[in-house]
Amino acid sequence: MNAISVRHTRPEDIPALIAMQAEVYPDIPPWSQRKLREQLDVFPQGQIVAETADGLVGCASSLIVQWDDWAESHSWKEITGAGTFDSHNPNGRTLYGAEVFVDPRVKGRGIGHLLYEGRRTLCRAMNLKRIIACGRLPGYRPHSADMSPEFYAQKVVWGDFGDPVLSFQLKEGFSYCGVIEDYLPEDIASCGHASLIVWLNPDYRPDLPTTIPEEIAL
Ligand SMILES: CC(C)(COP(=O)(O)OP(=O)(O)OC[C@H]1O[C@@H](n2cnc3c(N)ncnc32)[C@H](O)[C@@H]1OP(=O)(O)O)[C@@H](O)C(=O)NCCC(=O)NCCS
Repeated sequence: MNAISVRHTRPEDIPALIAMQAEVYPDIPPWSQRKLREQLDVFPQGQIVAETADGLVGCASSLIVQWDDWAESHSWKEITGAGTFDSHNPNGRTLYGAEVFVDPRVKGRGIGHLLYEGRRTLCRAMNLKRIIACGRLPGYRPHSADMSPEFYAQKVVWGDFGDPVLSFQLKEGFSYCGVIEDYLPEDIASCGHASLIVWLNPDYRPDLPTTIPEEIAL
């Protein structure tokens, strides 16, 4: 594969991202052009893609939230404003990962890692305290008759099971914090559940505010 680079998302990327998302999640409706455009209008600094000379190969979408507003309970729909990011709060201290996906043809070649590196760069550049996300648990469904989603996720953390998403996120240095039930009901493979994960920014300065530069080098 050609060299992979990560850059900010541009409006002209939207049709290719929608097509890729439809391939990644055949059973979940992809985002509309309008939603992706809104995400870019609300928080362009938080939207990134990975590309090779042949085109786009993945993306990661994020917003900033005041975590205390959501910590006790939230669904994907609530915390992302149903994908519009109208819940974005530029004074918050937490970068919230709303979506990440890689072209299924090139999974397992380090693209997800580069997108997560990009997110960590955004987190540091904006002096945010952490990245929080709720990851799908796509390996859970075959085990759902035998165990709770919590126990399944614990077994992934303990290394008894591999999960296509949580195992990747643990490899990326995220800590598992528990399961959010009914996070994304349309996600059949995960039975709608997700694992709450966090990465703490070691460079965070609580004495300084969140700053959102116009340009962030990735
Ligand atoms: C999850 C996803 C983004 C990972 O991207 P990727 O490009 O395949 O991952 P990478 O190749 O960058 O892997 C990074 C590290 O995670 C590990 N990893 C990746 N997938 C893994 C898996 N299924 N099990 C165990 N480890 C895994 C890799 O081995 C690598 O570690 P290493 O550097 O020590 O070898 C990608 O598989 C994807 O798009 N999945 C479908 C969409 C999705 O469900 N997204 C999550 C939304 S919450």
